[in-house]
Amino acid sequence: MKFSELQQHTYVPYSGSAEIAVVQSKSGAWFPGVRIENISFPLTISAIQNALFCCLSEGETPEIMYVDAQPEHNSIHNYWKEQYQLALNHIDKLTDANFAPIIKSVEDIPLTLHKLLGSALAEYSDFPVSALLQTGSGFISGVNIETADWSRGLCAERIAIAKAISYGLTDFKALYICTRDGEYSSPCGACRQVIIEHLSHHPVHLYHADGTTARHFSSDLLPYNFQSSSLHNKFKDD
Ligand code: THU
Repeated sequence: MKFSELQQHTYVPYSGSAEIAVVQSKSGAWFPGVRIENISFPLTISAIQNALFCCLSEGETPEIMYVDAQPEHNSIHNYWKEQYQLALNHIDKLTDANFAPIIKSVEDIPLTLHKLLGSALAEYSDFPVSALLQTGSGFISGVNIETADWSRGLCAERIAIAKAISYGLTDFKALYICTRDGEYSSPCGACRQVIIEHLSHHPVHLYHADGTTARHFSSDLLPYNFQSSSLHNKFKDD
């Protein structure tokens, strides 16, 4: 995937304001992030959080971030800069970036999910979660990432979806989720709202800690979910 394509991957149907970010890891690998809005606005994922979590979930350590210097987003950028001790650059400085390949071909889904649990950054909850998003081009992984400010962490499912969209993948087939602990594995309410926006009626496979599994359709996991045609139409007519 090319840097020049990144702008087109943003998912901003409500504001129309594209936002992109790029993170370079200590090993020199590049990771993209795009803004992903949600019909429930507070669930929107910023471009920089997306790029950073893409990097971290692939087991890399972020070092430099490249962002659009929109003044209203300065406090967000400064937060991440301090959180991970990053150098901050304007994205205009980047003319090219060869993004790290993150699409996986998976033969054994449960085995891969269990291995992925070890990459979760869940130091506060000690509750690792892993996810595999199956796309028409292969699998994208996700693990939960926690931050000192709990409200800025993200669940494994949402990270898998956000990474895929940043790489321009939207042909989603199914989602697989696994937890190490607990009575059963089940996506949280916020994840369900994000899942339904990108996987409208798709299989969601759950791998529980006791080895049993369950399969649901995304649409059954969030009956009577929040949607409003007025939100879509408002921006379409502009
Ligand atoms: N978590 C997920 O990754 N997915 C879910 O659907 C449920 C919760 C994570 C978030 C946090 O890191 C930890 O589990 C405890 O809430």
